[in-house]
Amino acid sequence: MNHPVELGKDGGGSAVDTGQASGPAAEEARHRAETARAALTALRGEVAKTVVGQDSVVTGLVIALLCRGHVLLEGVPGTAKTLLIKTLSRALDLDFKRVQFTPDLMPGDVTGSLVYDNRTSEFEYREGPVFTNLLLADEINRTPPKTQASLLEAMEERQVSVEGDARPLPDPFMVCATQNPIEYEGTYPLPEAQLDRFLVKLTVPVPSRDEEIAMLQRHAGGFDPRDLSAVRPVAGPEELAAGRAAVRAVHLDPKVAAYVVDLCRATRQSPSLQLGVSPRGATALLATSRAWAWLSGRDYVTPDDVKALARPTLRHRVQLRPEAELEGATADGVLEGILAHVPAPR
Ligand SMILES: Nc1ncnc2c1ncn2[C@@H]1O[C@H](COP(=O)(O)OP(=O)(O)OP(=O)(O)O)[C@@H](O)[C@H]1O
Ligand SMILES: [Mg+2]
Repeated sequence: MNHPVELGKDGGGSAVDTGQASGPAAEEARHRAETARAALTALRGEVAKTVVGQDSVVTGLVIALLCRGHVLLEGVPGTAKTLLIKTLSRALDLDFKRVQFTPDLMPGDVTGSLVYDNRTSEFEYREGPVFTNLLLADEINRTPPKTQASLLEAMEERQVSVEGDARPLPDPFMVCATQNPIEYEGTYPLPEAQLDRFLVKLTVPVPSRDEEIAMLQRHAGGFDPRDLSAVRPVAGPEELAAGRAAVRAVHLDPKVAAYVVDLCRATRQSPSLQLGVSPRGATALLATSRAWAWLSGRDYVTPDDVKALARPTLRHRVQLRPEAELEGATADGVLEGILAHVPAPR
């Protein structure tokens, strides 16, 4: 992904105490947070048992889980998107489901539907695949808007309403929606307002030469991507909850908040963009930066955290002007220019 600060590599910082609360309760919370961080860091190694490379994608997914966000995954076919999400759910001891979004998929195929039971002569609700922890929504742009909307509503509300009854979705609940960057023909691109609901857009790159060779060697050594039994649950909902609590305590300097806002405002003024980042996007960037700060072992956010997360958090929230697009501009390129020009606090 080529971030200024590479995601997936160690943030480098060590835990620094800056005027934290004291006492046995605070001490225990701190201990829980440390254990959670160690477990979530170990996830990377566990996922690496099946997937070669893709470190930034794994880190992006963990950040999204910590922020209770949803993820857009973009990558050409065969780059281990499915393998990655499946392995992650196993390593986190979470339930996993996958839905292939096709042109004839109905909203009820995602959220569930009322089914008539002949024996009891009553309607019974049958849960759809959305009732899971990690939902892989494959090729979300192949399904018409009505079905997309049913998923997006469930994502936003974390519940499904059937005949006036609200049924809460499990917690954690995260949707990873894939989009194929090449095949846009005959598809229903998500409207801007819907894209804004995804916390991050992660690009899954084709592996490097060395990584691809390592992958082939694994396969030659008998690795079977359908058999994930070697993957152990190294963290789970408890660690995620402790992590979330710790992220909420990450200190934000007003100067860093102003930096986030300045970056977002710069997107609204960029001559290459017809749509800049919304205030929701600004809150998203702050959230992901804080989660990354905590994962990196700090209890305060730095401008470098913001820089590292700016592209994955903002790239799907801006829209290029057609002229700029014709000239070969990309959302990442424009964001890179903005990062280079907006002064960061010191
Ligand atoms: N980085 C990688 N590490 C290990 N195996 C890989 C990697 N990339 C691809 N593979 C291999 O390619 C196979 C295909 O991966 P997978 O089905 O997960 O891809 P995908 O991105 O979900 O594709 P699609 O878009 O077609 O659904 C994997 O089962 C694995 O054998
Ligand atoms: Mg797949």
